[in-house]
Amino acid sequence: MSEALIVCENLTHIYDGEVVAVQDINLTIQKGELIGVIGQNGSGKTTLVKHFNGLLKPTKGKVFVNGNDTAGMRIQELAKSVGYVFQNPNHQLFAKTVREELEFGPTNLGVPEDEVKERVNKAFKFFNLEKYRESHPYRISFPLRKLVGMASIYTMRPDVFILDEPTTGQDHITTRIVYQLIERLRNEGATVICVAHDMILLAEVVERMIVMRDSQIIADTDPRTVFSDKDLMASTHLTPPQITELSYRMRDNKQIKNLALSINGLLEETSKNFNLKRSK
Ligand SMILES: Nc1ncnc2c1ncn2[C@@H]1O[C@H](COP(=O)(O)OP(=O)(O)OP(=O)(O)O)[C@@H](O)[C@H]1O
Ligand SMILES: [Mg+2]
Repeated sequence: MSEALIVCENLTHIYDGEVVAVQDINLTIQKGELIGVIGQNGSGKTTLVKHFNGLLKPTKGKVFVNGNDTAGMRIQELAKSVGYVFQNPNHQLFAKTVREELEFGPTNLGVPEDEVKERVNKAFKFFNLEKYRESHPYRISFPLRKLVGMASIYTMRPDVFILDEPTTGQDHITTRIVYQLIERLRNEGATVICVAHDMILLAEVVERMIVMRDSQIIADTDPRTVFSDKDLMASTHLTPPQITELSYRMRDNKQIKNLALSINGLLEETSKNFNLKRSK
């Protein structure tokens, strides 16, 4: 049976009494869902998901997590069940070493020291960050810093894992780790909410897609329906992955679909390399 984990009722958030960032949002997220959130810059994606772990509180309306109204809850309380990985790791990281950063969350939640060590060691391995254990988070590259942001939430083992633009600014090695992370979270039964401009990532992994425009949700359905709705995509100024579209049409033939997705990946990679070379 499905279980409502996050519920927004007429959620509105207004910054500084004048910027309406999300407006009258009604949304239910069930336990175990794997959701993508897309929409043009400034459409309200980050503002929406920051309400799920209490970083932001509604200006109007309500947000419930596990049946509890977040308005009366502290972030520390919500952090046990909902982890948010910041879009910009510079807004998240504060410790002097990567190790301390990874230890902080679970220690703060009261996890015993031995268990913290074990979780941190596993995270270092999984995110391939072992050689940066004692490095300052601001002295490592941006893609690695972003992985540190994910790793420091992963060590807290939240039930809900929110990734805000996890592949933006990543190279192909760190992007692959993001894909593996989502797969692992999935296998562990976590609920995953992924805000992204990366259409390939979304086409390949998510089951439900929330589309935002001008502070509102304009579609909430499966990715195939979203990508094949040309008017909807055009109105968000986002482009569906072309070969993915073809692969959807041929989805009954698994081999062709896999081939199409591989070609798409190859094209993306080639165009990234091309852009890199061109910008040098
Ligand atoms: N701290 C803030 N103070 C004032 N206005 C803000 C603040 N954060 C966001 N906004 C505004 O709220 C609106 C929604 O912003 P938000 O960051 O939620 O959008 P987004 O969809 O995540 O955008 P992006 O794709 O660029 O990350 C925008 O108009 C933005 O300028
Ligand atoms: Mg954002």
